[in-house]
Amino acid sequence: MNEKKRILSGIQPSGDLTLGSYMGAIKNWVALQDDYDCLYCIVDMHAITVRQDPPTLRRRTLEQLSQYIACGLDPKKNILFIQSHVHQHAELSWVLGCFTQFGELSRMTQFKDKSKKHADNITAGLFTYPVLMAADILLYQADLVPVGQDQKQHVELCRDIANRFNGLYSDTFTLPEPFIPKMGTRIMSLGDPMSKMSKSDPDGCVFLMDKPEDIMRKFKRAVTDCEAAVRYDKDAKPGISNLLSIYCTATGKTFEEAEAEFEGQGYGVFKPAVGEAVVELLRPIREQAAELMRDKAYLEGIYKEGAERASYLAEKTLRKVYKKVGFVAR
Ligand code: TYM
Repeated sequence: MNEKKRILSGIQPSGDLTLGSYMGAIKNWVALQDDYDCLYCIVDMHAITVRQDPPTLRRRTLEQLSQYIACGLDPKKNILFIQSHVHQHAELSWVLGCFTQFGELSRMTQFKDKSKKHADNITAGLFTYPVLMAADILLYQADLVPVGQDQKQHVELCRDIANRFNGLYSDTFTLPEPFIPKMGTRIMSLGDPMSKMSKSDPDGCVFLMDKPEDIMRKFKRAVTDCEAAVRYDKDAKPGISNLLSIYCTATGKTFEEAEAEFEGQGYGVFKPAVGEAVVELLRPIREQAAELMRDKAYLEGIYKEGAERASYLAEKTLRKVYKKVGFVAR
């Protein structure tokens, strides 16, 4: 019997992978891969909740797979797959949508933010997005969902939906827990430390595939404050605190160690040092991902096998659910 706990997580290929998604999610996935039974997907169905250019979406999906592997996710230890390849996600999502309240979905912060940003195109898909995310998680009976802070609300809604279904039809779904470590789970924009680093803000955002000179430029321009002391204080010094989080997540140092290292030194020394740490962190990832992109047959082998293995597990849950809600067996 397999005794390891199950993990599922995913990232949208709606933009290039960022330092935020690396530090908030992928880095933790890599750390967990030996101790858990892990599935990591590329959620292309989530990506089309806002308009995407089809060739770009296709390219990004493959790039994301190569970057997952380059970040250290071993395709032999983890199931790596593309969400749209496993049809059970859409099917379970429909059923779960019938157990989710309009009011619950209306309260989701990400929906409120995105519908402001895309006010001319607020689709039903954007609204029901968290239901599809719940299907992603519940299909695999995941125990843990490693995500950044911004996704906690969605995982909590997923628990509520699962709880409701279990209450009505007896135990069907494992109740998942969000897994959010202390450091790096909310990386802020370099241009505006009050808002989250996000792929839609290219100047404040570092992408995994950025060239070293671009990374250095972005860090040298990072918004700070006029106190000139490298000290962690999230409220009074959001810019410096964000840079310290990035530096410590990249180097494995504690805040105290980093503060001592830069004591008495100005931001002119600290900002490029953070840039250098990130350049060195990302260099091997960028190089390996570029190499993997040249081997499309290898990538195809990975995502096809991943979809097959994921689909096998997903089907078991879907059958149970269909039976419980009263569908006639095929
Ligand atoms: P997405 O694609 O916006 O982000 C992917 C992951 O990266 C984390 N993240 C961050 N962490 C720290 N600082 C940041 N600035 C930052 N930006 C992004 C996110 O918290 C997330 O963990 N709905 C999800 C994708 C999804 C999913 C799932 C996740 C779909 N199905 C099932 C887990 C399980 C999303 O939009 O993430």
